[in-house]
Amino acid sequence: MAQQNPMALNIIILAAGEGSRMRSAIPKVLHKLGGIPLLGHVLQTSHSLSAERVVVVYGHGGEQVRAALNEPDVVWVEQAEQLGTGHAVLQGIPYLAKDDTVLILYGDVPLTSAHTLQRLVSRVDDNSLALLTADLEDPSGYGRIVRDERRQVTRIVEDKDASDEQRSISEINTGILAVKAALLGECLSAIKNDNAQGEYYLTDIIAMAVEKGVSIVTESPDSIDEIIGVNNRVQLAALERSFQQTQAERLMMSGVTLYDPARFDLRGRLQAGSDVVIDVNVVLEGEVVLGDRVQIGANVIIKDASIGDDVVIRSNCVIEGAVIGHSCQLGPFARVRPETVCREEVRIGNFVEVKKSTIGSGSKINHLSYVGDSTVGREVNIGAGTITCNYDGANKHQTDIGDNVFIGSNTQIIAPVKIGAGATIGAGSTITRDVPGDELTLSRAPQETLKGWVRPAKK
Ligand code: UD1
Ligand code: CA
Repeated sequence: MAQQNPMALNIIILAAGEGSRMRSAIPKVLHKLGGIPLLGHVLQTSHSLSAERVVVVYGHGGEQVRAALNEPDVVWVEQAEQLGTGHAVLQGIPYLAKDDTVLILYGDVPLTSAHTLQRLVSRVDDNSLALLTADLEDPSGYGRIVRDERRQVTRIVEDKDASDEQRSISEINTGILAVKAALLGECLSAIKNDNAQGEYYLTDIIAMAVEKGVSIVTESPDSIDEIIGVNNRVQLAALERSFQQTQAERLMMSGVTLYDPARFDLRGRLQAGSDVVIDVNVVLEGEVVLGDRVQIGANVIIKDASIGDDVVIRSNCVIEGAVIGHSCQLGPFARVRPETVCREEVRIGNFVEVKKSTIGSGSKINHLSYVGDSTVGREVNIGAGTITCNYDGANKHQTDIGDNVFIGSNTQIIAPVKIGAGATIGAGSTITRDVPGDELTLSRAPQETLKGWVRPAKK
């Protein structure tokens, strides 16, 4: 296959395993870590290495995996039958050019750093194969790195094929390696499956390369999390905690206060200003931007939102798909739904839901209201229990509220309605028609007192 860059880096990601220990209808590599599928992490890392080509070898649940990740530049290759890691890599060989360097990664090993992989790849040449290895206190289950008396790597022996003496070796094969494509192709086409598991082992290429006079160089990761694979949900949860801890530490070092880093979850990307303070049990999802001095109370969820400078978000708010201007105050217990824009110094109080609405500067919706499909001007005061009745059972309708409007408590606004600037609406009104500006409008049954009325008494 023709190449633009004769020395290009290509990445083959193995993701065909069934992941039966997850006990899930969802393919293992689609289970999420930090809100992103396991394979998504590996693809992100691959892109950050500027790989010329990324080949994903998929099998179980393949179509679901392709659809979920939607990565048009990735080459998807099916391994219909899982005959071993060597057989899996072989499926990717036709997509490589002989001079390419190939890095082998795994869809269920999500946290390998680009930095570690760069170090590994930099050691590959025509005469060297680079292997990522690690020393583990408990190496059981892993392939072991066998070295000769000169400490040169001679082969990898799988746990199930190892002798007792080999099992006591603590240096393990992470599975991640980098090698020239020509050498990889030659070795893989010669591997056999005459081993304990009857599989074509990728690891057999080590001894074959040594036989050809290639030297095996090793690198180790900066942290053990980088090489941890996920096989079951217990491991997934443990890796999630570790990942969250790392993210929390990075945020704190960059100047964000977290009252308890163990009770903070970031499932996506956060861009935070200076002196942001975050209380316990806050979950940030998707793309979140927090301005300077933002304060977030306990039990708040923010998803895909941009929060301006000096905003105070009190406890138990849920904010999604919104843009909140500077110096706004939200909550406690506010729900701000997608396509909401609050300009500056807006107050959204307890048990208020706002959906697909723009709220002008200085306006207040302090208690128990629903505002949807609305445009609210500046310095508007919306009293407790006000409802924009935006839905007639079939269609949504718009409410427009001008600047300086005062709406009394317990008002229903049956949209579509326009309320002119400076209007006052009496409490308890049901507004069905447009309201003129600067006047008092109300719809209220006149108050009556029945003179001499007597409360019924028990017989
Ligand atoms: C493999 C290594 C072992 C290493 C360990 C690290 C081999 C023979 N052994 O063992 O030395 O210590 O990883 O975790 O390589 N896969 C496919 N198609 C297949 C088989 C596997 O795509 O036909 C994928 C799996 O989805 C998985 C990865 O390859 O992501 C590793 O396969 P697995 O069967 O878990 O290998 P191990 O026995 O753990
Ligand atoms: Ca494994």
